[in-house]
Amino acid sequence: MATVGIIGAGQMGSGISQTAATFGHDVMLADVDLDIAEKAKAKIGKGLDRLVSKDKMSADDAAAILARITPVADYEPMGEAEFVIEAATEREEIKFRIFEAAGKVLGPDAILASNTSSIPITRMANHAPDSARFIGIHFFNPVPIMKLVEIIPGLATSQDTIARTRSFVETLGKDVVLSDDAPGFVVNRILVPMINEAIFVLGQGTASIEDIDRGCVLGLNHPMGPLTLADFVGIDTVYEIMKVLHSTTGDGKYRPAPLLVKYVEAGWYGRKTGRGFYDYSGEVPVPTR
Ligand code: CAA
Ligand code: NAD
Repeated sequence: MATVGIIGAGQMGSGISQTAATFGHDVMLADVDLDIAEKAKAKIGKGLDRLVSKDKMSADDAAAILARITPVADYEPMGEAEFVIEAATEREEIKFRIFEAAGKVLGPDAILASNTSSIPITRMANHAPDSARFIGIHFFNPVPIMKLVEIIPGLATSQDTIARTRSFVETLGKDVVLSDDAPGFVVNRILVPMINEAIFVLGQGTASIEDIDRGCVLGLNHPMGPLTLADFVGIDTVYEIMKVLHSTTGDGKYRPAPLLVKYVEAGWYGRKTGRGFYDYSGEVPVPTR
């Protein structure tokens, strides 16, 4: 079992922490301050309680999982970790600062990884202490449920780092897809332009929020419609991914939909802010247009 440092205690950092602890790893969880990491641990605890109440897990197992997660105020304790996984906000300047700070404490054999949805791994590796030990580990949301992890080596990532990362990810019960360090990797290159297109369809008045979602649920058998999924992923994150696809390819087909930009400017990021394409303040989500 490994000791894992996780930086960023939002929905992905929390999900990765829960999953790593479920499979027996010790987790240190950090965010911009200790309070956020502690609240994230409490939220993971509530999710585990729900699994206990549904008889999907014993109370002892839930307590043991939670006990393996330690919120930390700074990166110093992560000097012991075999893996440090960054899962902070999808903006490269934030990630660069984290790699520079975490790099100062990283052990000599430890692997530094990013859960980025789209930012080029080779570009980020320049801000890590050793680009041979830097790699992309892209989990999917919700992490405890989704089976896939993409592994994305950068240009300088060593074969040893790739092999150790694959072994670690497999200890989490996940299936691996290896992707080149190309814009959007594999799955987001396909998924996120589809979500962006759904927002163009909405912005052009072709159909309502509910009908666009119903169309994809009933017509494509998707578990969630694209606008519900945008709210679930985070509309801010969808926008950041589109910007990376657009800027790294220079291809106009990846331009963010004007309505996507508007929702971001309004601070309507989806479920995490209580409002996106749907309003989550009541019993059931209500479309916002
Ligand atoms: N830990 C463990 N298990 C959990 C859990 C948790 N935190 N939360 C829920 N579960 C379990 C539930 O107990 C339930 O189990 P059973 O089926 O055995 O009863 C199961 O997971 C499903 O949960 P729900 O019944 O609450 O929810 P659902 O059936 O409505 O499914 C969903 C929810 C899995 C999110 C489904 O709607 C779905 O698959 N949506 C699409 C998700 C998707 O596309 N994700 C990818 C996003 S893109 C991305 O991640 C990449 C990026 O970079 C942006
Ligand atoms: P989120 O908004 O839920 O959480 C981001 C967290 O990062 C917040 O808790 C924030 O306080 C923290 N943070 C910001 N600056 C920080 C700093 N300097 N140091 C430490 N923590 C900091 O976002 P999320 O959805 O969890 O996404 C996190 C990462 O995972 C992003 O790179 C995103 O692209 C990627 N990702 C997201 C999804 C998804 O569906 N949401 C799926 C796969 C990958």
